[in-house]
Amino acid sequence: MSKQVIIAVKRQDTQSTGSRWEKFSVAYEPGLNMTTVLQRIAASPVTVDGKPSTPVAFDACCLEEVCGACTMRVNGRVRQACTALVDNLLSERPDQITLEPMTKFPVVRDLVVNRSGMFESLKRVRAWITADEYSDRGSGPRISQEAQEESYPLTTCMTCGCCVESCPQFNDGSSFIGPAAISQAVLFNEHPIGRFEANKRMEVIAGDGGIADCGNAQNCLKVCPKNIPLTRSLAKAGRAATTYAIGRLFRS
Ligand code: SF4
Ligand code: SF4
Ligand code: FES
Repeated sequence: MSKQVIIAVKRQDTQSTGSRWEKFSVAYEPGLNMTTVLQRIAASPVTVDGKPSTPVAFDACCLEEVCGACTMRVNGRVRQACTALVDNLLSERPDQITLEPMTKFPVVRDLVVNRSGMFESLKRVRAWITADEYSDRGSGPRISQEAQEESYPLTTCMTCGCCVESCPQFNDGSSFIGPAAISQAVLFNEHPIGRFEANKRMEVIAGDGGIADCGNAQNCLKVCPKNIPLTRSLAKAGRAATTYAIGRLFRS
């Protein structure tokens, strides 16, 4: 009989129902990733006890760690399922691989969570450059090579949620907008056109749920799959919030 891999999945039918664990067995192949494993389970959803089950719901889109849709907890660590390789996971824990939904977002079903809270935070910090018309106004301001190199890593954020999942300050009892939104506010505040709306972003960053809620545990930095220098962004946001708050005192 071919080598089998045991996959334990934490399942939940709806946001309001309780969760349960189900174990499945999938034939081992070198180079398998966890999204393929979930597709194999969907093709034959029978538990290791021989009980017929249903395909495990999960999100995926790009399959190359660019969209963030497949983010979940794999062997207890938040990451993207599409780049989680069975070979590496078995070397960490040979008996089974566990899959769970992220804990900081409402579960929609099984491994699918609703990350809209993160997108709402991006809207709050106006994580965009406002275009109020579409006529050709020539090229924009030049950005130095040095500034481009500093800001480029921040543009790679895929709103996956890993940083938020690992952040102790981001929880049901807090209004903290989280490190990803703060980092995007820093990105757009440093852009030569984006900075025209810096004060609107700073109202959020310096307000309730803003940078003051960060406890500087730095978990976010460790789990970001894009290696975004989040603590650098958080430090910049902290300094900018202080300057903004002092300026606001004088303005009032
Ligand atoms: S900052 Fe990193 S961990 Fe956080 S959402 Fe963006 S890519 Fe994901
Ligand atoms: S440094 Fe701040 S944002 Fe990052 S995990 Fe710690 S508390 Fe959360
Ligand atoms: S499917 Fe897009 S990051 Fe995994």
